[in-house]
Amino acid sequence: MPSISVFGAQWGDEGKGKIIDRLASEIDYVVRYQGGANAGHTVIVDGEKYVLHLIPSGILHPGRINVIGGGVAVDPITLIDEMEGLLGRGVAVDGSNLRLAANAHVIFEHHKRIDALSEHGRGKGRIGTTGRGIGPCYADKAARTGLRVCDLLEPDVLESRLRAALAGKNEVIRKVHGAEPLDLDGELERYASLGERLRPFVGDVGLELREAYKQGKRVLFEGAQGAALDIDFGTYPFVTSSNTGVAGVAAGAAFPPRWIDRSIGIAKAYCTRVGEGPFPTELDGEMGERLREAGCEFGATTGRPRRCGWFDAVAVRSAFSLADAQEWVVTNLDVLSGMGDISVGVAYKKGAQRWDQYPLELPDLDGIEVEYETFPGWTEDITGVTTFEGLPATTRAYIERLESLVGARIGMLSVGPDRDQVISRGL
Ligand code: GDP
Ligand code: IMO
Ligand code: MG
Repeated sequence: MPSISVFGAQWGDEGKGKIIDRLASEIDYVVRYQGGANAGHTVIVDGEKYVLHLIPSGILHPGRINVIGGGVAVDPITLIDEMEGLLGRGVAVDGSNLRLAANAHVIFEHHKRIDALSEHGRGKGRIGTTGRGIGPCYADKAARTGLRVCDLLEPDVLESRLRAALAGKNEVIRKVHGAEPLDLDGELERYASLGERLRPFVGDVGLELREAYKQGKRVLFEGAQGAALDIDFGTYPFVTSSNTGVAGVAAGAAFPPRWIDRSIGIAKAYCTRVGEGPFPTELDGEMGERLREAGCEFGATTGRPRRCGWFDAVAVRSAFSLADAQEWVVTNLDVLSGMGDISVGVAYKKGAQRWDQYPLELPDLDGIEVEYETFPGWTEDITGVTTFEGLPATTRAYIERLESLVGARIGMLSVGPDRDQVISRGL
C-alpha cells in the first residue's frame, strides 16, 4: 500500500519509534504531521540508542526522505541540536533526506517559558506537560499571532512579528507570572540566525508529498503522542494540543484524506501514561512498580517515571474506531514475562451504565470503575522468540484475546527494544 498512517493507540510512548524505523525499510517518505519536541521516539539499532524528538524515525535508513510537516510545532533549537547529534554519530542529515514545512509554526523561547510558568501557576491542577512550549505555540497558531518557519527566513517579517508577539508575551511573563521578561533584540538575533541554518531544508513539503504519492512513492505518517492525548478525543484537559491520529494527517501533512490507504495502531501489551490525568487501569502499588522496572518506563523526553497499568481495551478500542484501523502492533510483550496473572480492562462502568468505548461525556472519567478479565501469565523469556508459534501457549491466548477485544488483527509483536526483536504476522 502506498500510504500508511501509524499512530499511538494509548497515552503515548507505545514504541512508535521502533516500529516506524522497522517499517521505514520499505518506505520512501516518513512524515511527522503534528506535535513537536514533546515526542521522544526511541530507536535502537545494534545496541545503539537514538531518541528522536522532531526528526522522523526514518532518518536511520539511508535514502529515505524525512519530512516535518506543517502541522508540527517546530522548536528550531531542538531541531538543530538533534541534527547535530545525529551528524556527530555518523548519521547523514542534509537537504537530501530532511524537509521542513514552510508553514509549520515555530516554538520560541517565550512559549517554553510560558509553558513552565503556567504549569507552575496551575499548582495541583497542572497538566504535567513536557515543558516544550507545545500548548502556548498552538494557542498562538489558533489565535493567529504565531510565527511560521517561513517568517524566520524574512528578516523584516521576523522583526515586526516577533517584536509584536514578544511585547505581549513579556507583559504576561512580567505581570501575570511576576517573572523576568525576555530580551527582544537578543531573541530577534538568535531566531534570525536559527532560521538561516534551517533555510536549506524549508519548502512546500505538502506539494512534494502529493507529487511523490501520485508517482507511486510510499509514504508513512508518523504519529506522535497517542489517541488518549488527542486534543479533541482524549482525556481533556489532560491532553496535548494537536490531533494525534489519522485525523491530524490531512491538515498536518497537506495530504488528501482520501489518499490515506491504511492505518496501523501501536499499543503496549499493558498501559503507561506520563503526566497528570485519568488513567482508569492504573496500578498504584507493587505491580505498577514491577511493570515500570521491567519495562524501563521512564520518559524518553523528560525522564519522568511513567505511570503503569493494565491494558485498557476501552481506550484502545476507541482509538481504533476513530481511525478505522484494521491492524495493529503490540509492543513490550516481553515485559509481561514473570508478572503472574495478567488483567485487561474490558469496559468502564458507573452505576448501571457501561461503556466499551471512551465516554467523552464524562469529565475526568469521574467515578468510573473498570471491568477486568484476568488471564494466566507466563514465566518464559520471550525476547529471542521469532515466530508466533514459538511463544508460550498462554502468551498466544493473551494476544488472541486482545485481538478480539479490540476487533482488529495484530500483525506484529515486539518482544524487545532492538530493531530486530519482532515477530511478524504479516503486517
Ligand atoms: P514512542 O514515543 O512511542 O516512540 O515510544 P518511546 O520510545 O517513548 O518508549 C518506548 C520504550 O520502549 C523505549 O524505551 C523503547 O526502546 C522500548 N521498547 C520498544 N519496544 C519494546 C519492546 O518490545 N520491549 C521492550 N522491553 N521495550 C521496548
Ligand atoms: P510520544 O510521541 C507520552 C503528555 C505530557 C502531558 C501531556 C501534555 O513520545 O509518545 P505537552 O507537552 O504535549 O503539552 O503535554 O501530554 N505527552 C506525552 N506523553 N508521550 C509523548 O509523546 C507525549 N507528548 C506529550 O506528559 O501529560
Ligand atoms: Mg515517547
